[in-house]
Amino acid sequence: MEDLQDKIMDAVRYIRGVVEMKPTIAIVLGSGLGSLAYEIQDTIEIPYGEIPYFKTSTVPGHEGKLIFGKLFGKDVVAMQGRVHYYEGYTMQEITMPIRVFALLGVETLIVTNAAGGINPKFKAGDIMAITDHINLSGNSPLIGPNVEILGPRFPVMKQVYSPDLIVLLKKVASELKINIQEGVYAYMPGPQYETDAEVKMLGILGASAVGMSTVPEVICASHSGMRVLGISCITNVAGSTETSHKEVLEQAAKASQTLVAVVLDTINAM
Ligand code: HPA
Repeated sequence: MEDLQDKIMDAVRYIRGVVEMKPTIAIVLGSGLGSLAYEIQDTIEIPYGEIPYFKTSTVPGHEGKLIFGKLFGKDVVAMQGRVHYYEGYTMQEITMPIRVFALLGVETLIVTNAAGGINPKFKAGDIMAITDHINLSGNSPLIGPNVEILGPRFPVMKQVYSPDLIVLLKKVASELKINIQEGVYAYMPGPQYETDAEVKMLGILGASAVGMSTVPEVICASHSGMRVLGISCITNVAGSTETSHKEVLEQAAKASQTLVAVVLDTINAM
């Protein structure tokens, strides 16, 4: 069996054979937030299905392709759609793109997601800068032999979410008159939404929002030394009886124009 490093290198070689550009910024577009991809210029698209060891998404709203191109003259790669642990993939499988980005030379990861609000002051449509996370999956994408070319065996997880990028995001947002909440994102693997007791627990733990993605990717990005900017679109009050995937997608779509505007201006200002 090929080891993880060989698999990552296979995917890197495949992508280098298709695109020459060397992106320094990668953007993960979460539920219903894929429209940012339409702003990218001079694009080359690669469906996940064509890339060795990339898994394809089974969830509506997650399209499943890499889009290479330019934003404000900067070389970027966007993931339109992502795969999740709850789809039955391993943590290594869902984070393969992030490891590949690291070897392609990506230095900054911008990751967006839809999340349920735990902080009682949050309402649907709010945008939250992720200041830190709590990994409640009991798992890690770094379990298994360490890929030394990416990072250390025991990486420190301090200031994983770049304080500088949060400052920049807030500055750009205030110019656009967009309010940015801040808080800790709790990762629950899902796919079930939270019970009332879990929502209460998450609040006690200090989480402001909860979601089913992002943290595995961010752990890998941080392991390989990337700067990370994490942004949650609060699509619902966590644990509310009205929460459904349809509602999450609708709210994400409503907030998407605002989110796209701030993310674009932040990239421009980087
Ligand atoms: N819980 C977990 N994940 C989510 C939620 C939620 O309430 N909303 C969007 N993603």
